[in-house]
Amino acid sequence: MRIDKFLSEQGIASRKEAAKAAKGGGVLVNGTPVKDLSTHIDPENAQVVYLGRKVEYQQFIYVMLNKPEGYVSATDDKSLPYVTKLLPEELQKRELFPVGRLDRDTVGLMILTNNGQLAHSLLSPKHHVEKEYRFTAKVPMREGVEREFENGVTLADGYECKSAKIILDEDRMGGIITLTEGKYHQIKRMVAASDNRVMSLERISFGGISLDTSLARGEWRYLTKEEITSLEQQAKKQ
Ligand code: URA
Repeated sequence: MRIDKFLSEQGIASRKEAAKAAKGGGVLVNGTPVKDLSTHIDPENAQVVYLGRKVEYQQFIYVMLNKPEGYVSATDDKSLPYVTKLLPEELQKRELFPVGRLDRDTVGLMILTNNGQLAHSLLSPKHHVEKEYRFTAKVPMREGVEREFENGVTLADGYECKSAKIILDEDRMGGIITLTEGKYHQIKRMVAASDNRVMSLERISFGGISLDTSLARGEWRYLTKEEITSLEQQAKKQ
């Protein structure tokens, strides 16, 4: 990989900034100043120092995004805004993708990574990874819905959902639903099965990671080491 590409993909410097730093001897590869940034390096083994700072190569990147309404859970779309567009250019180059989908009108926690294997395990039904959603309903949720959710709701198409937890607000006009699976429009269809309608939906946690409430809709941050460890553990859970 070219050195300037390496530096920009790691989020260290744009190609222009890197060229300026290299001119002044600020880019070292294995201890030697490199002026020509088209030189190729092996990103996993080269020791790169940029303006006195050692650059650690990170193969995998993990990001938390507070998804706003109106964005599709995709890495590309011809006509609609899509979630990876909310990341800075350097990160867009790292080809992150969303771990699971949220509907276009659903907001909240979305994890993005370029670690395909981890994403695959987290989404596998085998691992029962918990997702929590805060919802509001059109009319009060009917009596006994807690038991119905616990026993497994049958959707209009006959699919029998796994046991889920619902904790309602006092007025029963919404609450928190916890799922361990992720079928298409699942919450909306579960609520519809109890003769009601979802009016708003927000994912507030995924695999033990809670949405960082300091992030406004559309903002993102890197996951912490603890959060990455938590995801790795969830991906192994039986
Ligand atoms: N369930 C839904 O109905 N929609 C989502 O976006 C997520 C869960």
